[in-house]
Amino acid sequence: SVRMTSSEITPKGILANQVAVVTGSTDGIGFAIARRLAQDGAHVVVSSRKQQNVDWAVATLQGEGLSVTGTVCHVAKAEDRERLVAKALEHGGGIDILVCNAGVNPLVGSTLGASEQVWDKILSVNVKAPALLLRQLLPHMENRWRGAVILVSSTAAYTPRVDLGAYNVSKTALLGLTRTLALELAPKDIRVNCLVPGVIETNFSKVLHKNETFWNNYKENYQLQRIGRPEDCAGLVSFLCSPDASYITGENIAVAGLSSRL
Ligand SMILES: NC(=O)c1ccc[n+]([C@@H]2O[C@H](COP(=O)([O-])OP(=O)(O)OC[C@H]3O[C@@H](n4cnc5c(N)ncnc54)[C@H](OP(=O)(O)O)[C@@H]3O)[C@@H](O)[C@H]2O)c1
Ligand SMILES: *[C@@H]1O[C@H](CO)[C@@H](O)[C@H](O)[C@H]1NC(C)=O
Ligand SMILES: *[C@@H]1O[C@H](CO)[C@@H](O)[C@H](O)[C@H]1NC(C)=O
Ligand SMILES: *[C@@H]1O[C@H](CO)[C@@H](O)[C@H](O)[C@H]1NC(C)=O
Repeated sequence: SVRMTSSEITPKGILANQVAVVTGSTDGIGFAIARRLAQDGAHVVVSSRKQQNVDWAVATLQGEGLSVTGTVCHVAKAEDRERLVAKALEHGGGIDILVCNAGVNPLVGSTLGASEQVWDKILSVNVKAPALLLRQLLPHMENRWRGAVILVSSTAAYTPRVDLGAYNVSKTALLGLTRTLALELAPKDIRVNCLVPGVIETNFSKVLHKNETFWNNYKENYQLQRIGRPEDCAGLVSFLCSPDASYITGENIAVAGLSSRL
């Protein structure tokens, strides 16, 4: 008889033989996503602005027996994005998964308090860079039959707060970018979905979760009585990139211990 064992059905995991590019993936949420995609069988290309961080992330994940390479990529720099695409093509000549996780918040302040320089920085890293990277990478994705793109927004997109103006606007823009890219790429069978984290314990959110006033307020307003971990975001991203999600596109899903979204 030819009964298949589960190892024959999924020889190396649900993302076997796929190549994944994850931006801002040497720490925090991006690093957890890179690790999970590799654990689920993908070859993962990690990247961030600093070579030493890339070296550390590649060595750590390779040390866990995972298939990982990496290169420096500041997502707002065209030549860095080009280098990232070239690096990914070294492994098998195509790209199946793009996770745009890199994001900045250079100013915690009001919307009208933000200077033109601050607006330019936030919008180019958080909003323009994902679209431009996808544009550079698309020719190498559209000849495969299963492309998946993940953008990373924030629950700040749903609930504006006075102290994070321009950042929130950029994260709301990513919800729109998710939908417009999903529409544009549907004919090519490339799906585009959006991860919407709440407060996740990383260096990025230190100002929030190290603040006792914030934390007390948080516990009163949210059901789950703990802060999120980077790993809490990783399984959803793997699922959205997998064949199990092949009819899901244009969606945004919160990992927030309860969010205000309907
Ligand atoms: N933590 C939260 O509570 C939270 C909530 C909602 C949304 N988010 C979003 O989640 C994403 C990741 O946040 P995180 O909390 O995981 O941050 P994190 O722990 O500070 O990690 C950020 C990562 O991105 C890299 N990076 C920073 N700027 C970059 C750039 N311009 N180009 C490429 N890489 C860059 C950093 O490495 P280098 O320094 O080497 O570049 C690092 O690997 C962001 O988009 C953020 O807006 C976070
Ligand atoms: C930005 O988002 C945060 C987090 O949800 C919120 O607390 C803040 O009020 C928002 N600020 C603005 C100006 O939208
Ligand atoms: C946060 O930043 C510190 C100092 O820059 C660094 O040592 C640490 O590895 C970073 N990441 C986490 C998850 O704490
Ligand atoms: C903590 O958060 C509260 C309320 O959000 C704010 O008024 C206060 O300045 C913050 N404290 C620190 C040390 O950042």
